[in-house]
Amino acid sequence: MRQKIVAGNWKMNNNEAESTKLIKEINDAISNTTLDNTRVIVSPPFVNLSASINAAKDTSIEVVAQNMHQAKSGAYTGEISAEMLKSVGVKTVIIGHSERRSYFNETDEILAEKLNAVLANDMEAIFCFGEQLEERKLDNHLLEVGSQLRNALFHLKAEDFKNIILAYEPVWAIGTGETATPEQAQEMHAFVRNVLEKKFGKEVSDAVSILYGGSVKPANAEEIFSKEDVDGGLIGGASLKAEDFSAIIKAI
Ligand code: PGA
Repeated sequence: MRQKIVAGNWKMNNNEAESTKLIKEINDAISNTTLDNTRVIVSPPFVNLSASINAAKDTSIEVVAQNMHQAKSGAYTGEISAEMLKSVGVKTVIIGHSERRSYFNETDEILAEKLNAVLANDMEAIFCFGEQLEERKLDNHLLEVGSQLRNALFHLKAEDFKNIILAYEPVWAIGTGETATPEQAQEMHAFVRNVLEKKFGKEVSDAVSILYGGSVKPANAEEIFSKEDVDGGLIGGASLKAEDFSAIIKAI
């Protein structure tokens, strides 16, 4: 059975005290919920990872990082390596969020290297991809996503997918209040599974969790999560409030 996952992408929000408080609030809000086959993830900014991991100890909440550099170490001022993340207890890292792609010029090629670094360190990646509004309008969304997947993932081996979670995030739906319809999400998720099946086989395509991200909120989560190929969500804005995030977790 594919794992269900609700992951909060906190982006550049929450200082240390706010991060630990939010983790406690989320934990309280879901403490009476049975989370069968469901992972709950939050991603505080780098400087709050240690405190957050500590706050999440003895809870079922996992703390992951939002990004990392592909090099092992060296003269990359301001960057953080996989090994550094591992050393503070981080096991999973978000790679290729559209904000990293657009504001920090992360190309498919760089993201392929980042994925290699994640896997070489026995860590897990939440790999994000998704089309721009222009591509959607031109009805090129499948082509665009197909190319992102080929460029960043096709050099991998089937067994690598044990450590990869995918997140489809149409750029036009991120932080805009505009959500892909459940049908649009399902169309893309089924397409992604198909692309993976052709390249890596059915075992991989059946087992990989594919999350949807883009303006998921308590009011629309259940309908989106009900789609066959949607295994959960990557949640931005609505993950910053325990009440909303826990309602989304309960919708899975
Ligand atoms: P949003 O962000 O839920 O605020 O649209 C999603 C994301 O960027 O992962």
